Order: sequence, then structure tokens, then C-alpha cells
Amino acid sequence: MPKTDKGANVLLGICGGGGFSREVLPVAREFLSTFSQANAEKNRIVFVENNPLENALNDMPVVSEDEFFSLSCAERYFNIAIADSVIRENVALDFIKRGATPLSIHAPNSLTYDCIEIGEGAIICANSIITSNVRIGRFFHSNFFSYVAHDCVIGDFVTFAPRVTCNGNVHIGDHAYIGAAATVKQGTPDKPLIIGEGAIIGMGAVVTKDVPAFTTVIGNPAKPLVKNRNSAVWIIFGLWRRYGFGWAQRKRGRAEALPLKKY
Ligand SMILES: CC(C)(COP(=O)(O)OP(=O)(O)OC[C@H]1O[C@@H](n2cnc3c(N)ncnc32)[C@H](O)[C@@H]1OP(=O)(O)O)[C@@H](O)C(=O)NCCC(=O)NCCS
Repeated sequence: MPKTDKGANVLLGICGGGGFSREVLPVAREFLSTFSQANAEKNRIVFVENNPLENALNDMPVVSEDEFFSLSCAERYFNIAIADSVIRENVALDFIKRGATPLSIHAPNSLTYDCIEIGEGAIICANSIITSNVRIGRFFHSNFFSYVAHDCVIGDFVTFAPRVTCNGNVHIGDHAYIGAAATVKQGTPDKPLIIGEGAIIGMGAVVTKDVPAFTTVIGNPAKPLVKNRNSAVWIIFGLWRRYGFGWAQRKRGRAEALPLKKY
């Protein structure tokens, strides 16, 4: 599609030009064909980047944010294929303010069962399974083959890498990152297992206990990742994770009710 193309029916911008964006493209293409069948030949997908270095990726145009908002279309949607949850939140706030609508993309062969709520802007990749009575916030990423079991409650901007197994009655705070092939033990209805806000679960970890906010855990059973405690860099990084992250979130005005549904 030339950048000056006029009159798309549905225009979908996939924000980000990294590997995950290119993986999301086929999912988005297939999903869009079922989402909007009228005038489907006039649906368009573009990659949207801050400063595009290329004109096309995998035969799809790459446009800047301003170009994306200048393309003419009947309906303008976006999704964000960027694993960094803080960038994801910033882009989401910006695009919504500028008038684009978040579109959740579900791979046709992903499964979602009964009584599920998923906030806007989700990416549910191929072979993901979300079972019954699950509540998930906004801009969730469920990468390939990930699994969320019954009665889980997941916050906003949470990322599941591929093949995560999250068993039942687990509560996960905003901005948590669950690494590839991590397994999280089930909680119970009266005592859910809690993964705190901004926590990072390393790839392959087996989480058997609550994980405090802004803590990285690895291994089986998962334990906090401790780097060289004498390193000044590590201490500064730890302080930033503990205090600066929350400050940055408040500064951006997360609580300022944007037209997003809070879970
Ligand atoms: C846990 C994680 C966030 C730590 O990253 P980091 O802070 O950059 O840590 P480093 O790579 O410096 O590793 C620090 C130490 O922990 C070890 N380590 C790192 N990740 C580990 C993991 N998942 N399991 C076991 N050990 C791990 C490293 O080998 C290193 O050990 P050493 O000090 O003995 O050399 C990262 O390794 C990880 O697992 N990320 C998730 C990756 C993923 O799922 N990607 C999916 C892409 S779609």
C-alpha cells in the first residue's frame, strides 16, 4: 500500500517493528479478515514505528506515528506488539488520545472458555488457552502456547512469553512479565498465589510462592535473582525498580481515567 493510499476501510496499525510485531502480523491479518468482512479487500495493516528506518517489513508498509494518523480510513485501530510494558502503556495512552481505537487480536485457533473478561488491546497468539472465569486487564500479551487457568486475575499491561503455564487462582499485578516456559503453581480461592506488580519471572522458572512486586525470580523453585550485591550499578537499579518505576507510572497519570476500562 503506498503511504498516500486513500480510503482504507479498516486501518490497523501494529505498533513496533521488532520480531514480535512480525510474528503478530499473520495473526492480525487472519483476525482482521473475520473481524470486518464487509469491504474486506479495503482493510489495511501497517507497522507503526517512532522513526521508521525501512519502508516495509515482510511486505507490509512501515509508517511513522504521524503518517498513521494522516492515512484516511473509515475506522482506525491499533495494537501494540512491544513486550516492554511501560512502552506499551505510553503508546496506548498516546494513540487513544489521538483518536485511534485499541483492537484486541485473537488468533483463530486460540481458545477462550466461559465467563472471561479481557481488556482492550490484547494479543492472544496461536495456541493460547484461557479457560473459565478469568479476568484480564488491558493490553495483555499471551504469546504462543501460553495457558491461563480458571479463576486467575491478571492486571494491565501484563506479558506472557511463549509457553507460560499459569495454573488456577493466581493473581498477577500490572506490568508483570512472565518469561518463556515459566510455570506458576495454583493458588486457592481463599489464598490465591500472588505475583506482584512489575515482577519478572525468568524463563523456565517454577513459581511455588508469592512473588513480591518489582522482584525478579528464577529457577526451580523460583528464588529472587541476586546479582553482585556490592555493585553500585545493581544497587541503583534496585532502587529505581523499587521506587522510580512507581514514580514514573504516577507521573504519566495512570490513574487519570483515560477512556480505558480499568480491571
Ligand atoms: C530472568 C531474566 C529477566 C534476567 O535477566 P538479566 O537481569 O539480564 O540477568 P542476566 O542475564 O545478567 O543473568 C544473571 C544471572 O542469572 C542467570 N539467569 C538468567 N536468567 C535465568 C533464568 N531464567 N533461569 C536461571 N538462571 C538465569 C544467568 O545465567 C546469570 O548467571 P551468572 O551470574 O551465574 O552468570 C532473564 O534472563 C529472563 O529469563 N528473561 C525472560 C526471557 C524470555 O522469556 N524471553 C521470551 C522472549 S519472547
